[in-house]
This record gives sequence, structure tokens and C-alpha cells, in this order.
Amino acid sequence: MKPTLRIATTRPLPDPDHDELLLLEALGRQGIEARMALWKDEAERWDSGEPTLIRSPWDYIHSLSPFLDWVKRVDRAGPLWNPAAVVLENAHKRYLLELAREGLPVVPTWLIERGERVDLAAGLRARGWEDFVVKPAVGAGSWSTQRYTLPQIGNAQQHLAELSATVEVLIQPYLHSVEGHGERAMVAIEGEFTHAVRKSPRFIGMEESVSEAVSLHADERELGERVLARYPRLAYARVDIARDERGFPMIMELELIEPSLFLRQNPRALERLALGMCERLLALQHSAR
Ligand SMILES: Nc1ncnc2c1ncn2[C@@H]1O[C@H](COP(=O)(O)OP(=O)(O)O)[C@@H](O)[C@H]1O
Ligand SMILES: [Mg+2]
Repeated sequence: MKPTLRIATTRPLPDPDHDELLLLEALGRQGIEARMALWKDEAERWDSGEPTLIRSPWDYIHSLSPFLDWVKRVDRAGPLWNPAAVVLENAHKRYLLELAREGLPVVPTWLIERGERVDLAAGLRARGWEDFVVKPAVGAGSWSTQRYTLPQIGNAQQHLAELSATVEVLIQPYLHSVEGHGERAMVAIEGEFTHAVRKSPRFIGMEESVSEAVSLHADERELGERVLARYPRLAYARVDIARDERGFPMIMELELIEPSLFLRQNPRALERLALGMCERLLALQHSAR
């Protein structure tokens, strides 16, 4: 019997998913019957145990608790990639603080609890951050992410107050390297880095702009591998990094739920992902026998 795979997405997509069609085609070439399913679709038999790959449920950031319930439910019934334990940790950027605690280089992050009243100016002064970014702790696609400088503190304070009513907020120093060397999104398939792209800085209202595949520098790969070592072998992962003012790579974000994998930029990564899915599905069929 042909193995089947359900791919979780949403409609309408807030951004185009350039990976979707390529992946469906590549899975087809591996003899897999793959179909897209809307994670919010209550008519879908989520308890059936059908293997499910998360790809583009990009509106979950506005429905976090239903999404996490859905993740647990699907994972309980059958394999979910990436698995629930990984998704649950990764859905809230509090994980950045945990990575930092473990000694990994992370963009310095001030986490403001929901509804917490803070003196933004004093906090920034204490940290020496004159150019900074305000963003939600649950976010994607640069949603509500903005850069400010100290003279704009009033706007930043208002942005913080608006966000903070419903979600925890992260404040970080603005890393100027995102304009030069650029933020590098490093893609790993089945635990191995395949390629990276350079992402242009993106704030509220801006379109995503990414490069063709670029190679990973040795220090970037080393950092990426240290990060992946925390996890079991993941079907897919993306480690987004930017360099600090001294030039050292820092983790900006770890995308283990719904990253674009920039598969058009690297046909080998596309085939590796499809092959990885095939191996996982065949192993399931084998163990069921
Ligand atoms: N500390 C920062 N320094 C420079 N640019 C930043 C910083 N934080 C965010 N950005 C910009 O905002 C974008 C979105 O932020 P990010 O933390 O990646 O959240 P998400 O991708 O989940 O929306 C980044 O890709 C980058 O262009
Ligand atoms: Mg990002």
C-alpha cells in the first residue's frame, strides 16, 4: 500500500508558501500519497493516527492554545513531525532564555511578562540598548516586530503596552549585522544542515526578501550543530542567526514548528526531506506488521 502523509497548513496563508508544491511533487516521486489538511478543520480525522507533517499552519500564533491542544491531540494518535514535545517548547520564544542558560550564544533578550508594568527607558538605559527591537514572544513572519531608537521611546512604549495586553514581549538590541552579512537562516533536514539563505531585515508591513542558497560559514555551522544536539533527530529545523557587534554568530530564532525551508534554493534538501519522510513512513509500516 502506498504510504500516506497529511501536511498541516492553514488557509488563507498570510504569506505564499514556496515550498508547498515542490514538496508535494517530491513526495509523489517517492511514491507517497501526500495531501494538505487545514489544522483548524474539525471534519478532519485528527485522531486517526495518520502520520502528519507540520508545514504552514502560520495563523497559529493568533490561536496558540487551540493550536497546542491540536498538536498534543495529533501527536497522541500517531506520529507528528516535528513531535509535540519539540513544538510545545518552540512555540514560545521563552526558549531563547533557556538556550542562553545552557550557554548557547543568543541575541540578548529582555522578556517582559504579560501585563507586567516596566519602565522601558530605564530598562534600556541599564542594558545600554539605544537601538532596539520590540516583538511578541509568540510570533512569526515579523508580525508586530518593530525597530526603535531612544528618541522613539514613546512609540515603543505604546507598542509594548498594546502587545503586552495579550502576550509576553521580547526586547532585544538591534543587531546591525542584519543589514550587512545578514540574518542567515540555516536549514537542516533529518539532522543535517543542507543550506542557508540570507534574509533581509523585515519589520511590520515589509515583504520577506531572501537570497539564493549561500554556504554556511564554519562558525555558523558549529553553532547550528550545538543547537541541534539538544534534540532528537528532527525531520526539519531552521536555525536563524545574526552576528553581534564583535562578529560572533548568535541565535536569533530557532524554527522547529513551521519554518519555510527554502527548498527551491536547494533541490538536494527537497529530495532529502521527501526521502526522509519516505523512510519514516516505511519504518512505520514495517513496525505495524
Ligand atoms: N534583535 C534584532 N536585531 C535586528 N533585527 C531583528 C532583531 N529581531 C528581529 N529582527 C528582524 O525582525 C525579523 C523577525 O524577527 P524574528 O525574531 O525572526 O521573529 P519571527 O520571524 O518569528 O517573526 C527578523 O527576521 C529580523 O529581520
Ligand atoms: Mg524569524
